[in-house]
Amino acid sequence: MATLKWTLFLCLLICFFTNGLTEEIQAKSGDDVILNCRDPSNGNILVLRWIRPDLKAKGYVYFFRESRSYEQYQYPSFHGRVKLRDPQMKDGDFSVILNHFSINDTGTYECYVGRNNTGSDPEIINIIHLKVKADQENITAKSGDHVTLPCHVPQNTQILVVEWIRPDLEPEYVFLYKNGQSHPDHQHPSFKTRAELKDGGMKDGNLSVILKNVTITDTGTYECHIYQSQRNHTMSIINLDVHQSGHDEHGGDKDGDVGLTVTVMVGVIVVMFAAGFGFVKYRKWKKTQNAQL
Ligand SMILES: *[C@@H]1O[C@H](CO)[C@@H](O)[C@H](O)[C@H]1NC(C)=O
Ligand SMILES: *[C@@H]1O[C@H](CO)[C@@H](O)[C@H](O)[C@H]1NC(C)=O
Ligand SMILES: *[C@@H]1O[C@H](CO)[C@@H](O)[C@H](O)[C@H]1NC(C)=O
Ligand SMILES: *[C@@H]1O[C@H](CO)[C@@H](O)[C@H](O)[C@H]1NC(C)=O
Ligand SMILES: *[C@@H]1O[C@H](CO)[C@@H](O)[C@H](O)[C@H]1NC(C)=O
Ligand SMILES: *[C@@H]1O[C@H](CO)[C@@H](O)[C@H](O)[C@H]1NC(C)=O
Repeated sequence: MATLKWTLFLCLLICFFTNGLTEEIQAKSGDDVILNCRDPSNGNILVLRWIRPDLKAKGYVYFFRESRSYEQYQYPSFHGRVKLRDPQMKDGDFSVILNHFSINDTGTYECYVGRNNTGSDPEIINIIHLKVKADQENITAKSGDHVTLPCHVPQNTQILVVEWIRPDLEPEYVFLYKNGQSHPDHQHPSFKTRAELKDGGMKDGNLSVILKNVTITDTGTYECHIYQSQRNHTMSIINLDVHQSGHDEHGGDKDGDVGLTVTVMVGVIVVMFAAGFGFVKYRKWKKTQNAQL
């Protein structure tokens, strides 16, 4: 029983600490990202390692030993892109800046610090989950409009699947692209024939979907996801708000007035023409009458 209690206590402690360690940050393509790592405890810094436990290949994001960093131990994709935020590492600041974030950089980052008094093993200080920050937009439209739901990825991004979903629907697919083609059979019935990609393709990483002839029931949240061979990303979150168009709407009276004016004017012209026509006819008739007399 006592062992069980201890196990529980230990688990709680570990869970608590692991939670404290883990951090999630989001970035957009091209951003410079700060990966935080702070440990103000005492002792001389001997080694600093930033690693990617989710990558199979051997290497480091950043590697520092004794008094310098070693680019040759870094993954090639991080060469020249990672530097210490504070080159002095004052007050135990082991944070690094990752320049020019790309989708390829998403994943888990861990910071290990070894000091002259921590024994032989460096200690883990921070765990960071780095993700893509989705573009967010609010769009308002009138029923009957064609609406573009924007979603973009950098050119040459590997894409296996694109899905546009409305999470509140079942099935949730607004649009699905997979194995090189769209799949209308998976779409929610209300979006069949109404949702399509720009020019039927996704050139230049434009994954925007055009939603035709929207109705009030299209009001909702739309998400654009892409799947790569190893991971997936949420690229856009769009809130669409569709209003009723036409005469039911407040302010529609004005259109009504214009319509009425036009109708009245056309009517007046028709009556005038008819009257003129009738008058000419009458004069002709009168003439023939006079001639007959
Ligand atoms: C991401 O990685 C893929 C495959 O490794 C590569 O083809 C692509 O060019 C990379 N993209 C960027 C922006 O670095
Ligand atoms: C670690 O380095 C600090 C600063 O130089 C020194 O004061 C301390 O004695 C060292 N500790 C060990 C265990 O070597
Ligand atoms: C969208 O609208 C909500 C409120 O309806 C607002 O909080 C949010 O900031 C807006 N987002 C954008 C990107 O304009
Ligand atoms: C992407 O396609 C949409 C729909 O045709 C268009 O409105 C938008 O301007 C395009 N975006 C870019 C960056 O080309
Ligand atoms: C647009 O949708 C409305 C209502 O769903 C429908 O009555 C109308 O025929 C549609 N128009 C077109 C051009 O598809
Ligand atoms: C997408 O990736 C996240 C991790 O980034 C994962 O938790 C989720 O299950 C993935 N979704 C699918 C449908 O694979």
